[in-house]
Amino acid sequence: MAIRNIRTIGDEVLTKRCKEVTEMTPRIKELIQDMFDTMYEEFGVGLAAPQVGILKRIAVIDTTGETPIVLINPRIVETSGEQVGNEGCLSVPGKTGIVRRPNYVKAVALNENMEPFEIEGTELLARAICHELEHLDGKLYIDRVEGELMNVSDDEDEEFIAE
Ligand code: NI
Repeated sequence: MAIRNIRTIGDEVLTKRCKEVTEMTPRIKELIQDMFDTMYEEFGVGLAAPQVGILKRIAVIDTTGETPIVLINPRIVETSGEQVGNEGCLSVPGKTGIVRRPNYVKAVALNENMEPFEIEGTELLARAICHELEHLDGKLYIDRVEGELMNVSDDEDEEFIAE
């Protein structure tokens, strides 16, 4: 188990477009395991490789605490509906804001064995897929916030989700 240092806003690595993964290697397997360890340690529901300083198109998501999902080279292929809710990011500590997202998302990706699969999600999972995929293109949710970016303590009755 290895916890990696989470890069925070202001770090240039969070603004870069990540590169496709072309083959699975022991180093990438270790990275994925470390990303899960780091995400669970920080009580996040998702984490993207650039958040630990690696510019590869890899994200991990677990919105329930018992459904770990690895997304390699993910791509959204379908969205529908709309949800408006609070979002947070482990790279923007202590902050939250209202973000509009599709309520349903279908994505295609490779799993950790580099096999293609399809994933569908609604509500929080749909939100997490959108949020993590944007990290892979160097984007942060704060550019999508409607209204003000808030301090988590100002809003502690609201559900807080960091990705
Ligand atoms: Ni994030």
